[in-house]
Amino acid sequence: MASLQACIAVARAPPLSHSPCLALLARALRPIRCTLRPQVRFLSGDMAMDWSFNWTAQGVSFRRGEMRFRVSLKEEASVDAKDQRVGAKAIPKLMLVSDLDNTMVDHLDKSHTGLLRFNNLWAAEYAHNSLLVFSTGRSLEKYTQLRTQFPLLTPALCIFSVGTEICYGANMEPDQDWVNYLNEGWNQAVVLEEVKRLNLRLQDDSEIRPHKVSCQIDKKDATEIIDTLSKRLKDRGLNVKLIFSHGIDLDVLPKGAGKGEALAFLLQKMRREGSAPQETLVCGDSGNDIELFEVEGVNGVIVGGAMEELRQWYDINGKHSSRLHLAKERCASGIVEAIGELSLGPHLSPFDRMNSNGIQPAVKASEKGQLTPSGVAQREVVEFNTFFTKWMNGEVPNNPESFQRLTSVIASGSTMVYPWGVEQSLLQSVTSAQSKHGLTKDKKIRVWIDCIQEQELANGVLMVTWHSWQMSEGWCLAGTERKGYFATAILREKEGTPNGVEWLRVHETPRKS
Ligand code: GLC
Ligand code: MG
Repeated sequence: MASLQACIAVARAPPLSHSPCLALLARALRPIRCTLRPQVRFLSGDMAMDWSFNWTAQGVSFRRGEMRFRVSLKEEASVDAKDQRVGAKAIPKLMLVSDLDNTMVDHLDKSHTGLLRFNNLWAAEYAHNSLLVFSTGRSLEKYTQLRTQFPLLTPALCIFSVGTEICYGANMEPDQDWVNYLNEGWNQAVVLEEVKRLNLRLQDDSEIRPHKVSCQIDKKDATEIIDTLSKRLKDRGLNVKLIFSHGIDLDVLPKGAGKGEALAFLLQKMRREGSAPQETLVCGDSGNDIELFEVEGVNGVIVGGAMEELRQWYDINGKHSSRLHLAKERCASGIVEAIGELSLGPHLSPFDRMNSNGIQPAVKASEKGQLTPSGVAQREVVEFNTFFTKWMNGEVPNNPESFQRLTSVIASGSTMVYPWGVEQSLLQSVTSAQSKHGLTKDKKIRVWIDCIQEQELANGVLMVTWHSWQMSEGWCLAGTERKGYFATAILREKEGTPNGVEWLRVHETPRKS
């Protein structure tokens, strides 16, 4: 980043002839070549030339006098499931590691307001350069159930069963190194025997995992049971960890397991791969999350409504840390609050940023004409969709100036392919929505965008792909009331638009599940 700033400084320097200026830019960029694959292009002025380092990259443009340059930095962060590498193609800006129940997911919020707000912020501002990780006490089976009930984003990777399983990619491939590490000195059969001897009530079969035996006990007996069980397991030669959460759940794990240990393992792996995140934010609400806050170098948020055991830990251990935030807001809204309080990046989602006209100051004043971060086309997609939904719900005023947010970014001659197989002028499609203001105001629709990705196809032409989910407010049961689309859009740079891009084509295809 320092080099990028140097590069911008060069562009702001007193006028030079084109070539020396480009040479200076090239020199400024050299140190970040390996990690960020930069590309410099001379875009306009009186000399038409295209000068690049030949790396594929995403667009960032800025101008100096008559000249326009683009520095492209590939910031995408993703996971390589096949090689079991966290494999961020560049260093993630933020790795957000969140517990699910009562942290990311609010079981008391039937309209999912907080979660949808987080999703909106993540898709617009973080998806292109950050990693989302879920770390839950649930098994994969129970996690899959949760996904049918709540509008959860697709994370880059998951840590299941209280930090005993690290899984990558769409097929949730387990990390074999982690499995081998936990196998050492662990014997599930012995743990089960001792749990039975104490007559403890085992949890559902799905929650008894190769490296996790879980039961439910009375809070008042907890200290005695934990003492006896650990003594007996020690006598049988096992080195275990016992975690008590929610005032009822008791998990027995290998000593080296747990949410904190799993995160430390992951961070170490990323460090070895050269892709450790710039910042990590851990988010939790209960006893099994305590370890997350103890991992070295992380920021943390204890969300509003957290359990007594975690609040007690915070009072004793966390209160004076400037990296920990005790949120006022519940669950996902508490996470958004912490992103702002801990200065980890943008914390206003497009949904929140819209003023009373629904017109959003998309590009901050400081960015105008200087440096537009990569991910602008993604942000435009999220903002456009957010505005569109608000228009249909009657949540923005019904006036032509406000509606212009949509029409002003549509290129002439652009087209839209509908899920039902009809192709229409994009401008016509959008314009036809003007008369539909407030159509869904009685049963508001909520939309969230998942798996959003941006790719530069040619100079100044960007392709964005995403999964769009739509539901009616109040929805919380499986399947029936949620509709999903795969969407692809082609956008092109255009000055003067809210995000510096305009729409050329949109293609939507319905998805089955
Ligand atoms: C989740 C798991 C359960 C575990 C609890 C506390 O609810 O499903 O097995 O005991 O978290 O860690
Ligand atoms: Mg929880």
